[in-house]
Amino acid sequence: MAVSLPVGLLAIQLVPVDRRNPPVETEVPATAEARAVLRRACYDCHSNESVWPWYSRVAPISWLVARDVHEGRKELNFSTWNRLAPNQQNKARRESWKEVEEGEMPMWFYLPIHPEARLSAGDRAILQAWSLAPAGAALAGR
Ligand code: HEC
Repeated sequence: MAVSLPVGLLAIQLVPVDRRNPPVETEVPATAEARAVLRRACYDCHSNESVWPWYSRVAPISWLVARDVHEGRKELNFSTWNRLAPNQQNKARRESWKEVEEGEMPMWFYLPIHPEARLSAGDRAILQAWSLAPAGAALAGR
């Protein structure tokens, strides 16, 4: 049976999409400037403070956005950083820099719609310093 495109597009809007933002348990330890870069470029997919824009409410785009957020949070969630042991936190910082250095993160398709997430050379230097800083005092600045 053939379903017309408009009917199909309407029908898929009924599929529930989980756009919840669970509670924020902690702030990621970082200097104010490093946190600002992370918030600008990573938090939509790697925190519980995701901003869900209008197109995240329209299927099938909504499915893609929600998938990225759920997968992203599973890999790395700055809002539940407290759940990581200190050595895992260090590893997560190093991996974050590695992804940025290699140009893997933020994901390429995110950038045209979120130009504020484009990282300048200065932003990258800030993230690199954050990833290499010894845990503790060097990260505590606000
Ligand atoms: C548009 C959503 C999105 C944005 C923005 C984003 N990420 Fe991701 N990130 C993902 C998804 C989805 C995954 C899991 C799939 C994958 O690894 O490709 C991921 C995986 C990761 C991983 C784990 C990689 C691995 O293979 O173990 C790290 C680390 C990471 N992201 C860091 C960052 C950092 C740092 C930023 C900001 C500079 C960022 N991401 C921005 C969606 C995003």
